Amino acid sequence: MVKIAPSMLAADWGALRAEALKAAAGTADYLHLDMMDGHFVPNLTYGPGVAGSLRDVGVPLDIHLMVERPEDLLDGCAAAAPAFITVHVEACRHLHRVLQRIADLGCIPGVALNPATPVGAVSEVLAMVGLVVVMGVNPGFGGQRFIPATVERVVAMRTASSGLARPPLIEVDGGVTEANANALAQAGADILVAGTAVFGAGDVAAAIAGLRRVAGAGSS
Ligand code: DX5
Ligand code: ZN
Repeated sequence: MVKIAPSMLAADWGALRAEALKAAAGTADYLHLDMMDGHFVPNLTYGPGVAGSLRDVGVPLDIHLMVERPEDLLDGCAAAAPAFITVHVEACRHLHRVLQRIADLGCIPGVALNPATPVGAVSEVLAMVGLVVVMGVNPGFGGQRFIPATVERVVAMRTASSGLARPPLIEVDGGVTEANANALAQAGADILVAGTAVFGAGDVAAAIAGLRRVAGAGSS
């Protein structure tokens, strides 16, 4: 069953806790928190403190760091006890060290790839991550149009990790809608992040259920 991770980026930030509780009541599998620094991506969002204030909502947190020097934020993020902390391969000079640090802090390390980054850029770390985030858009903003080549990139990532004893989960982030959820699931995605498709919908619970249903259609 494909898991759904609503992105709080598209929620009403003035009512973030209420929005998170809505996602929890709507059976979200994870809460996806996009942390942006205005340098790695041209936008600013929230930091570890916000993650800490949502840790008791009852849904595991999925922290996506779109920042330079993500190592500076790891301790603060880990204090929120998230399930995943993901860093971008493009932002890490010492990727192996950063991923090891995340694991040492008791979280599952994730690595994310921008749309122009070859799948092979993470081949040396696939065995040490629990999550690979294949971006469906260029990071920085919600509500962007899905890049169709992402589907093939998910297939390639699945193939690249198939020989591992513990293959990482594959998450797709950006531009996910009911129009592409099934293709992504068939390609091998385990988790779908959806911001606009969930919080832009009138009924959060129905939007999550709709994505899950479409993603699961045709699978055994
Ligand atoms: C984009 C973020 C995404 C974003 C997805 O940089 O990483 O998590 O919230 O938003 P939608 O689903 O609206 O594309
Ligand atoms: Zn994200």
